[in-house]
Amino acid sequence: MLQFAIPTLVPGGARRNRDAAHIAGRGEGCDTLRRIMRLLIVGAGSVGGYFGGRLAAAGRDVTFLVRARRAEQLAQGLTLRTKGEDTIVPVSVIVGADQAGPFDAILLAIKAYQLAAAIDDIRDRVSADTMIVPVLNGMQHIDTLRTRFGAQRVIGGFAQIVTSLDEEGRIVDQGAFHDLVYGEWDGTRSKRILELDEHLQGAGFSARLSAHIEREMWEKWAFLSSMAAITCLMHADVGQVARTAAGPRFVQSLFAEVSAVIAAEGQPLSQAFRERTLSLLTDRVSTLTSSMFRDMKAGRPVEADQIIGDLIARGSAKGVATPLLYSVLARLEVYAQQR
Ligand SMILES: NC(=O)c1ccc[n+]([C@@H]2O[C@H](COP(=O)([O-])OP(=O)(O)OC[C@H]3O[C@@H](n4cnc5c(N)ncnc54)[C@H](OP(=O)(O)O)[C@@H]3O)[C@@H](O)[C@H]2O)c1
Repeated sequence: MLQFAIPTLVPGGARRNRDAAHIAGRGEGCDTLRRIMRLLIVGAGSVGGYFGGRLAAAGRDVTFLVRARRAEQLAQGLTLRTKGEDTIVPVSVIVGADQAGPFDAILLAIKAYQLAAAIDDIRDRVSADTMIVPVLNGMQHIDTLRTRFGAQRVIGGFAQIVTSLDEEGRIVDQGAFHDLVYGEWDGTRSKRILELDEHLQGAGFSARLSAHIEREMWEKWAFLSSMAAITCLMHADVGQVARTAAGPRFVQSLFAEVSAVIAAEGQPLSQAFRERTLSLLTDRVSTLTSSMFRDMKAGRPVEADQIIGDLIARGSAKGVATPLLYSVLARLEVYAQQR
């Protein structure tokens, strides 16, 4: 059956709202009104396009930093496709050399292997007060960003969402959750993080200020690296592996390796988290796959070094053996060679 998407055009967009003095709907008197926060989204792909598009549609001051081909696609607006229905959001876009900034916050929503180029591109858009909010998977990028911009500018963040970018440049929403999580490393409710939180709330997705962002980021890495390892190595979804005789034992051993590395890094995963995760990873009826597996099936590059390789490197530095993770990395390297 053919399905047609009926687009909804959202009026306004970031550029139109740039001059507004205050965030719409905030208090009556000047004292209760907060200043506009200028947000730069680096990468209008699956994650950046989704959250940035929602924020732009809600009238927030959002600018996308994109490359030339994406800028052309966005000239007519950014399309968000949810349950077959399209919403077209006019967006404010800059490309590499354009003069703009500095920004109050920069949401980094690029793939890990694109980080070095993105750092060069945002260098001149960062002030002493800019918050850099990365939503990349893994942890390696945090050290890179701290070294480049100083630890004070980098805050913790991650996304829980299932979105993809289709051939026409639409952001296709495939999941039931749309969570953007962020926080100061020490969990404090600083003035700047509360301002960011306020800016992100009420835009049609779940924006959550975490008091335990670092722990949550390690947990997310533990879960997604295990999912990626299982599905990419076995070329199957979680349930298919769990229904084999050897599958559950393999999954337990792999997750034990991942947990041991993370514990050796001084971030031991709680027993409750480990039990919950193992139960999800050995669920015989699960159809869960990983975005790395979906990228692999589509012939796209994968974040092998940052999601799997970095766990091996950390384990190796702390004397934790990771033979199964090595098998996964070898599989991913063969895949990269074959591309
Ligand atoms: N997709 C998900 O469901 C999901 C969920 C949770 C977390 N994540 C994580 O979030 C991160 C982003 O993933 P994604 O799925 O959003 O990737 P994606 O769909 O490939 O989007 C990345 C976008 O960034 C753009 N980009 C890269 N370098 C750039 C630069 N220097 N300047 C401007 N634009 C640049 C790319 O544009 P070009 O086309 O020009 O390269 C692309 O549009 C990854 O670490 C991923 O693991 C993804």
